[in-house]
Amino acid sequence: MSIKNISKTQPEIFEFSEENLEKSKIEIKKYPKNKQASAVIALLYLAQKQNDNWIPLEAIKYISKLLSMPYIKVYEVATFYSMFNLSPVGKYFVQVCTTTPCMIRGAKKITDVCKKYISNEQNKLSENKICSWTEVECLGACVNAPMMQINKDYFEDLNESKTEEIIQKLLKDEFPEPGSAKNRKNNAPESGKTTLMEIKNA
Ligand code: FES
Repeated sequence: MSIKNISKTQPEIFEFSEENLEKSKIEIKKYPKNKQASAVIALLYLAQKQNDNWIPLEAIKYISKLLSMPYIKVYEVATFYSMFNLSPVGKYFVQVCTTTPCMIRGAKKITDVCKKYISNEQNKLSENKICSWTEVECLGACVNAPMMQINKDYFEDLNESKTEEIIQKLLKDEFPEPGSAKNRKNNAPESGKTTLMEIKNA
């Protein structure tokens, strides 16, 4: 299960850059008058992107004012969704799926590797400050379980040694090749195609 960690170190102020303020106005305009609260997720995304991939509490306050919403409602959204980070994450942010299909295919071994090489607790930066990890719920790649997401890429069909290899590269500030560790194409059967044999590239 993912744990939402609120950073103890917070910036004193937050406001959107000129560009993001413009973008937020465009998002708000997508909804009917007095329904501006519907733009909350889009604005939280903008804040996260602007602030090195995490959302400070001041940004939650800022967005609540911008959308005329109670602070607690914006806070509830920010703490509910695992894609919002409320504490600093590394340049390489490793999200390990620990929902049932990944768990029964060995996700615990993947989190053990993260604990050993990145940090003993999730949501803590590695010693060299470039990597952090967290557990998340299903990332929609169950058929290639166990898997993890690093930044925007998926790493699938993992085992302990492949995960070690990937993490070691990250810690050296190198980005590993994403995809299946078994070289499966998308989610094709492990032993190769069994149907649609007559169709090329099916
Ligand atoms: S359970 Fe892990 S991707 Fe779905």
